[in-house]
Amino acid sequence: MAAPLLEFHQVSYTYPGARHPAIAELTLAIPAGRKTAILGHNGCGKSTLLFLADGLYRRSGGVITWKGESLQYTSRALNLWRQRIGLAFQDPEQQLVAATVAEDISVVRQTDVGLVE
Ligand SMILES: Nc1ncnc2c1ncn2[C@@H]1O[C@H](COP(=O)(O)OP(=O)(O)O)[C@@H](O)[C@H]1O
Ligand SMILES: [Mg+2]
Repeated sequence: MAAPLLEFHQVSYTYPGARHPAIAELTLAIPAGRKTAILGHNGCGKSTLLFLADGLYRRSGGVITWKGESLQYTSRALNLWRQRIGLAFQDPEQQLVAATVAEDISVVRQTDVGLVE
């Protein structure tokens, strides 16, 4: 298997005011050079996982790494992080600025998007 690109180590996230974590102590490794699909029923945490991977949400616990480097939440670190991880929203009408996914990701990569607490 290829070396891991993105790794979650015991990562948890609880939405503000929620009684239970949406993601609880999740550990996974996404390898480089492969396409990876994350499947699961509605509400199992797929979107939350991607928002955590992009740094839009700040993990409540655990560590997220890219090639072994830990995700930090300063705007400078997030800017660099998002040059590696682009996010396209599920609903095409929620795309930020462009008409196609490829264009939208390329713009997001150049833009400082804030952290959702
Ligand atoms: N903004 C939110 N506030 C509170 N709870 C949320 C919010 N978004 C999602 N959740 C809850 O977090 C869990 C995971 O949701 P989500 O990541 O959207 O799942 P999926 O993308 O797999 O359908 C669900 O229990 C959902 O109800
Ligand atoms: Mg979803």
